[in-house]
Amino acid sequence: MADLLKKTLAKQLGNPHGVLGNVILRALNKKNTTIINETIKLLDLKPDDRFLDIGFGGGLSFEILENEHPDIKMHGLEISEKALSCSKYNFKSAIAENKLEVKQGSVHRIPYPDNFFNHIISINTVYFWEDVPDAFAEVRRVLKPGGTFVLSIREKETLKKIKATKYGFHFYETEDLIDALETTGFTVILHKKKDYLPFLCIEGEKEQALN
Ligand SMILES: C[S@@+](CC[C@H](N)C(=O)[O-])C[C@H]1O[C@@H](n2cnc3c(N)ncnc32)[C@H](O)[C@@H]1O
Repeated sequence: MADLLKKTLAKQLGNPHGVLGNVILRALNKKNTTIINETIKLLDLKPDDRFLDIGFGGGLSFEILENEHPDIKMHGLEISEKALSCSKYNFKSAIAENKLEVKQGSVHRIPYPDNFFNHIISINTVYFWEDVPDAFAEVRRVLKPGGTFVLSIREKETLKKIKATKYGFHFYETEDLIDALETTGFTVILHKKKDYLPFLCIEGEKEQALN
């Protein structure tokens, strides 16, 4: 793949935009079906729980939850205007019925109050964050005590095999992500999984409130 194409792809993956953004968002849903499904399977979802997907891309998590857990209150946060406008179009009935709320913004300033969500997921997004400890602290802030955060990623070695990732992706050692989560106040369980490429679901539970 020529360098320009790889650069374009990397930029689109970090922030889908323009006409090509529509294609990228659809492709993300197809390519990431397994990682998204496996991430959701780790959540102990109960009726009326509040769920947030940070960097939801094509919004496949909302489609899965709408079908399998229609009693969940879904929220999405995206930096990409294109992802936001597509989700508003694709999920207009869920939004009209107050089952889904989507907002534009960044993991570094999550526009919700403290202790708000039962479950937060973020899939294939950490490579684009500016400051991981800061992002984890924000996630912890908006998560209820006892709530679950699942960060799903392709490992550094896997990512490096994808040529486009040399343009602007941040690579992290898995141990460093786990350390940062533990330092932030999460109890961590690591799940190793595989689809056409291996991936990890790093599950963090926020400590319960002291009585
Ligand atoms: C590679 S895509 C993954 C999309 C989806 N989670 C998936 O796995 O198919 C990364 C997404 O993260 C979003 N993103 C990047 N930086 C972000 C940030 N700081 N806060 C929220 N979303 C962000 C991008 O706009 C993009 O839609």
